[in-house]
Amino acid sequence: MPESSHPDLESVLITETAIRRRIKKLGGEIMAAYGDEPITVISIINGAILFTADLLRQIDNPIRLDCIRISSYRNETKSIGKPQLIHTLTLDVTNRHVLLIDDILDTGKTLSMVAKLIRRLNPASLKVCILLDKEGRREVPLEADFVGFKIPDKFVVGYGLDFAERYRNLPCIGVLKPQLQNPPEWA
Ligand code: IMP
Ligand code: MG
Repeated sequence: MPESSHPDLESVLITETAIRRRIKKLGGEIMAAYGDEPITVISIINGAILFTADLLRQIDNPIRLDCIRISSYRNETKSIGKPQLIHTLTLDVTNRHVLLIDDILDTGKTLSMVAKLIRRLNPASLKVCILLDKEGRREVPLEADFVGFKIPDKFVVGYGLDFAERYRNLPCIGVLKPQLQNPPEWA
């Protein structure tokens, strides 16, 4: 039976089943890396909400969860400026093992800005976990420690990723139809 798509998608890049399977393995990779250590997870919202919720249920370590809100100053499909901090951390991360989670690593501007902010607070360690990696797009050098999927340079939505705040609730990840990436009434 074909897995669910959405009429606004040109194609499904990663199915719901593939996401579930990969996240289970990713949980295992993270547990192997941390042993019995407690982890302070910092999720970059809104994009990483769905990924974080599913990934954390695959990790048995003691976990503290905090969220940080960043505006990446995108004009829907392209990153156009410096990311801005909208809401900062509430948990203390000094001397803690910090795992930073985001939905996608694109130019690297967002994650490098957040990583810099966390490093200034002297964590015991800092690792980065992302669901998607658009490898060829980096403007700031940054590699993640844990990667769900490497994807081509296409604008994707679903499973937390949005276009103008829509499509975050799709269970799969897909490429938005090009004619919907620039609705004429918005031009
Ligand atoms: P970066 O700062 O360029 O690495 O991009 C960071 C943010 O841009 C991510 O956290 C996403 O919210 C957003 N982003 C990048 N590529 C896509 C995409 O293909 N679809 C939806 N959001 C994206
Ligand atoms: Mg984001």
